[in-house]
Amino acid sequence: MPHCHVLPESSNLFSSPQTAMIMDHLVQRPLFPTPDKLDLVIPCLLASATGFLSHTLYFIRGFHDTSALRIFLVHFTTFLCLTAYSITQLGVFPGLITSTAIALSYLTTLFTSIITYRLFFHPLRHIPGPFLAKITKLYGPYTARNGQMHLEQTKLFKKYGNFVRIAPNEVFMLSVEGIQKIHARDSRCRKLNAGIYDVIHFKGAHNLNSVLSREEHGPRRKIWERAFTTKALAIHEPKTREICHRWLNKIASLNGQPINTSLFSLLIPFDHMGKVGFSYEFRSIEAGEENRMLHLLESLFGQFGRTGELCWPLSIAKDLNLGKESAEFDRLTMEMADRRAAEEDSNKGDILQHFLDDMRSEKPIAFFNKNIFYSDSALVLIGATDTIGVVLSYLFYHLARHRVYQDLLHSHIKKVYGETIPEEFTDRDLSKIPLLDALINETMRLDNPVANNGPRLTPPKGITVDGIHIPGGVAVRVPGYALHRSEEFYLAPEEFKPERWLDQAKFVKDREAFIPWLVGPNNCVGKRMGMAVVRLVLAYTVYSYTWNSAPGEDGKRIYLESKDNLILKAGAFNAVFTPREPGGLSYVPRQ
Ligand code: HEM
Repeated sequence: MPHCHVLPESSNLFSSPQTAMIMDHLVQRPLFPTPDKLDLVIPCLLASATGFLSHTLYFIRGFHDTSALRIFLVHFTTFLCLTAYSITQLGVFPGLITSTAIALSYLTTLFTSIITYRLFFHPLRHIPGPFLAKITKLYGPYTARNGQMHLEQTKLFKKYGNFVRIAPNEVFMLSVEGIQKIHARDSRCRKLNAGIYDVIHFKGAHNLNSVLSREEHGPRRKIWERAFTTKALAIHEPKTREICHRWLNKIASLNGQPINTSLFSLLIPFDHMGKVGFSYEFRSIEAGEENRMLHLLESLFGQFGRTGELCWPLSIAKDLNLGKESAEFDRLTMEMADRRAAEEDSNKGDILQHFLDDMRSEKPIAFFNKNIFYSDSALVLIGATDTIGVVLSYLFYHLARHRVYQDLLHSHIKKVYGETIPEEFTDRDLSKIPLLDALINETMRLDNPVANNGPRLTPPKGITVDGIHIPGGVAVRVPGYALHRSEEFYLAPEEFKPERWLDQAKFVKDREAFIPWLVGPNNCVGKRMGMAVVRLVLAYTVYSYTWNSAPGEDGKRIYLESKDNLILKAGAFNAVFTPREPGGLSYVPRQ
């Protein structure tokens, strides 16, 4: 039976006979309980002290998410050893009670210390935010419970203002100065230890987007940029046109049946990236459904969405090779990349060509091994599928709701049809049409594809944004979705108003607050290609068809079922397409 030492209520600790008794007793007390005298006070006090010290000496310092498995194993092994020792010393039942009591004392003090620190002593204690977010990162999964973190966060800004403590050590901000301080070339903020990038890698090889140091990023970025020069884009563009024609063929073959445009908005860039990235034909537009690879891609990003970017479970899953789908996606990507690498006619001018050229050169500057090649090959699909997909999804939706823009755009683009290539559009001609870019920009403003942008860690001295000092070692970000919908930067921010980009002085309060491609050294390397694909798909579609919401489609699902999976994913939207007529403007399906 546990032996309790109860002091009489009236006892005065400092009255000498009693104090002497207690001291005597403590000195005589064995460090570890004996079976006949199960005394837990000292072991529990020591465990509490260890809990306090492990917080103040270890957990309080730095980023430990990527060490989650090791931390868990150390604790678990210690507990097992303690239990085994207690059982040998005390017998099964008292031994179990002893080790459990010691573990609970350790954990209780550890978490009490963590919570007390985060609430009352943390340098971010003055930044407003939800109570739960101040004490635990589990607030992330809580905001992601419906998969709509972007909407939850937008609400938080309305409630707390432009700076919100969204996690114990993380601040979200809506600030133009913040964009520069966090992302510009001269910023001292970094990706290392900021969060999600630390856990995105293929067998330790980070992709261009998740690479953690600027030293490694610079040369890798150079290779990527070679795939998007004017010359390289001219090689890609005929392939983009081919994909546009396949899409038009598909519409024609469906003969007026309702089409889920959000689904095809994903299939189009996916097939496009197969072709332009890997010289590979997925042919999912023809199939009208996601193939296995696209399904895996969507499902993996769904996991990021569901976990609210909480990194340690992702890190543990990675370390233990859990996640069959992730392994399958990696395997398929490797197969595709290997197939491309093995092709005899290697001079195809696709994106992987540039990676292979560097990897096979005598002195590679970035692609030093196959894992980097695989990692960036996966990024080709990741970076260019859902991003373009979400823009197309919402473009089809907005233009179905605002039919006037379809006709207006048609009247503009028909002037450049065949201008450079007979019976075709070119991106160069289309880029001269301000209305087309205004429609695309307005869609990206309202439905920012990379909804929250990635985090960065502040430098040791911290940063000061809009007069607010954010100390060093804090994860910071400017979430584009909420920024683009803030009244501080846009007039009537919730309305679809493409004219705002034609008359910016009137509707855009601060042009710098438009960051669909991000800014600085990590901005989108595929921006020109992204714009070209969206322009061409929209131009070909508007030129050949008109479309309306399908019967029974109220247009609510596209928002209600949207998901923030790092990249936004639109819910379904059904539309019915009708060929334009008469006057030779209708589309003649090609073989
Ligand atoms: C509408 C289309 C697109 C949008 C809106 C978009 C948006 C973005 C954004 C916001 C980032 C920064 C992400 C972050 O770290 O926070 C980014 C990075 C990136 N994007 Fe895009 N993107 C698009 C199309 C493309 C295309 C077609 C490619 C081609 C493969 C591509 C490849 C990349 C890559 C590789 C990065 C990482 C750049 C780096 O860290 O240096 N993106 N994109």
